[in-house]
Amino acid sequence: MHYGGDYNPEQWPEATWTDDVQRMREAGVTTATVGVFAWSRIQPDEHTFDFDWLDRVIDLLHENGIAVDLATATASPPAWAVTAYPGIRPQDEDGALYWQGSRQHYAPSSPDYRRLASRLVTELVARYKDHPAVVLWHVNNEYGCHLNYDYSDSAAVAFRAWLRRRYADDLDALNASWGTMFWSQRYGSFDEIVPPRKAPYSHNPGGLLDFKRFTSDTLLELYTMERDIIKGAGATQPVTTNFMGAFPPADYWRWARELDVISDDSYPDPNDPDAFRSAAFTRDLMRSLKPETPWLLMEQASSAVNWRPSNAPKAPGQLAALSMQAVGHGADGILFFQWRQSMRGSEKFHSAMLPHAGTDTRTWREVVQLGGDLAGLPELPSGAGSSRASVALVLDWENHWAISSPDHPVVLDYLALVQRWYGALHRQHVSIDIVQTTSDLAGYGLVVLPHQYLLSDEGAANLTGYVRGGGQLLVTAFSDVVDAQDAFREGGFQVALRSVLGVSVTEFGALDAGSSVTVSGSGLALRGEFLAEELAVHAPDVEVLARYADGRVPGTPALTSLETGAGRAWYLATIPDDEGMLEVTRAALARAGIRSELPTTAAGPDLERVEVARRGDVLTVINHGDAVTVPLPDGSTDLDGSPLTALELDPFAWALVRTPTERTAL
Ligand code: GLA
Repeated sequence: MHYGGDYNPEQWPEATWTDDVQRMREAGVTTATVGVFAWSRIQPDEHTFDFDWLDRVIDLLHENGIAVDLATATASPPAWAVTAYPGIRPQDEDGALYWQGSRQHYAPSSPDYRRLASRLVTELVARYKDHPAVVLWHVNNEYGCHLNYDYSDSAAVAFRAWLRRRYADDLDALNASWGTMFWSQRYGSFDEIVPPRKAPYSHNPGGLLDFKRFTSDTLLELYTMERDIIKGAGATQPVTTNFMGAFPPADYWRWARELDVISDDSYPDPNDPDAFRSAAFTRDLMRSLKPETPWLLMEQASSAVNWRPSNAPKAPGQLAALSMQAVGHGADGILFFQWRQSMRGSEKFHSAMLPHAGTDTRTWREVVQLGGDLAGLPELPSGAGSSRASVALVLDWENHWAISSPDHPVVLDYLALVQRWYGALHRQHVSIDIVQTTSDLAGYGLVVLPHQYLLSDEGAANLTGYVRGGGQLLVTAFSDVVDAQDAFREGGFQVALRSVLGVSVTEFGALDAGSSVTVSGSGLALRGEFLAEELAVHAPDVEVLARYADGRVPGTPALTSLETGAGRAWYLATIPDDEGMLEVTRAALARAGIRSELPTTAAGPDLERVEVARRGDVLTVINHGDAVTVPLPDGSTDLDGSPLTALELDPFAWALVRTPTERTAL
C-alpha cells in the first residue's frame, strides 16, 4: 500500500527537506512523487541541465526509506522554451494564443514541444533509471487538463495527417463519412481541412467526432512517446500517467492499454453531500480499466482545494472515508496533492498533507492516523478474479463525444446520466463493473446501457450475443440511433439492436426542461424527463411492461421487454428521475437474480449513504451519512475471524469485514 503525495522540494530551501523527510516518516509516507513541475529547475536553459539538487532529494528520500515516483516534468514548459519556439503555444477555437505564466501552455502536436520534452525525458531516464529509490515513472501530468482542445496550426497539420491515416488517404471516403454534400462542405484536398475553429454555425458532426478522436489519440501519442523513451532506455519500473476520472477529452479505454498501472486524481467536493457516489463511480472505472492490476489514487486533497468558487474543508473523518473508498474499490496506493502546502503561487490555499498551519492541526492528525491505518491493513485480494461484479454499466467515450454534438432532439449530459444510473445501482449495494459495448460480458447478470446514441456494429453484435447467450440487457432512451460515423442506419432507429429489442423509436418526443411524463405498469410508477419516445413494436412477443399515463401519446408503450432464449432485453423510452432509475434497476436486478451485498434492500433511508465495496471476500463498509447500524450477511467476521452480525458506524466511519462471496437476495 503506497502512501504519500506530490513532493515539490524545488519550492523550498534545502533546510526544509530534512524536516520534510522526518515528518514523512512520522506520517507513514512510503512514496513521494517528485518533479512534476520541475522542468525549469532541472533545465534552466536549453543547453543546461542541473540534476545535482534532484540527486540530493532522491538520495535523501532513499536514505529515509521513501520510494520515488519520478515525474518526467514535461507538463509545464519553461518560459525560455516558449520564447525560443513560439510555435509551441496552443490556440483556442477563436485563434487566441495561450501564453506562459501558468501551466500546460503547449500544443500537443508541436514538433518543438515534442523534441524538447523528449530530450528532457531522455536525460532524466539515463540518470535515474537505475536509482534504487525509483519505483514508478510518472509521465507528464493530467494530459489535456486545462487545455482540452488545441486548434493551432500544428494541430491542423497533425489533424490532416491523422485523417489521412484514418481514411487511408482516401478523401472520397472522408467526404462520404462526414456527409460533406450537406451545406457544400465537400473537401477537394486534405489541406483544406482545419480543426473545428470558430464558424458561423454548427460544425459538421462527423468532423467534430473525428477531431475529438484525433485529440484523444494525439495526447496519447505524447504519453507513448515518453513511455517509449523510458522503456527504450532500459528502465524496468512501471510507467503511469495520472487520469482524471471520466475525463471527456481522453478515451481512457484506449489509454489504459498503454499504462502499466492506472492512476487517478480525484477531488470530490466536500460541499456536495452526494460527491461520494460520483467518487465511487470513478473508483470503479479505474478498477475496471485494468482489472488485473491494482490502481493508485495518485492525487486527492487532504482537505480544501483552491479552485472552486467556495472551497470547503473535508469534515472530520471524511479524508479516511474517501481514502478507504478507493482502497475498497481496488486501489493499492493513497497519495495526495501535495506533501507540504505551498507558501507562494496559485495553490497556496490548497490543502496538503503537511498544512501551512503546522502539525497541531486536525488535517495533520488525520493524515498521520490514515498512514497508520493503511500500514496496518492486511494484504487485500486484488486482480480481475477478485473484483468481477455481477452488474456491468457501459461507459463509452465515443458515444459521449457524439451525443455532445449540437442539433439533437434534446441536450443530454451523458456523463451525468451515466453517473445517475450508477448511483441507482450503487444505492442498492451491488458491485458494479464499468465496461465497453465490446467488452467480454459473459458472466454479468445485468448489463445497463445508458443512452448509447452512437453504437458501433461490433458493440451491437456483442450486446446482441450477450442477450442471446442468456444475459439481461437494459437499454435506455436515445440508444442505437447512429453508427460509428454518427450517421443514421438504413431502416429507421434501433436497427442494430432490433433483433433483441423488438421495438424502435418513431418520434424522440423531446420534453421541455421542467416538464415530465408519467409511466406506469407492472408495479412501476416513474416520472420521465428529457424524452418521451414513441415506440413501434415489431415482434409479437414483446411484453409492454409500462405505458405512458399522460403526455402526447398516453396509453402507448414506454417500457418493453423481449425474451430471446434465456436472455432478455428491456427498452426504456424515457429518462427517469433518480427514484425512477432506482425502481427500474431494482426490477431488472430482481429479474436477473442479482443479490445485494447487504441483507436488506437498502432502499430505506438508513442505509442509503452506506457504501460497500468488495475485494474478494473482503467487504469495505463506509458510512457517508449519519450514525447507522449496518446489518451484515450471515457468516460475516472481522478480519481476525470473530463473527459479526452488524456494524455500528459513526459518520465517516469505515470497517473491513470478511463475508461469504455468496450474497443475499434483493
Ligand atoms: C491537479 C494537478 C495538481 C494540482 C491539483 C490541485 O490534480 O495535477 O498539480 O494542481 O490539481 O487540486
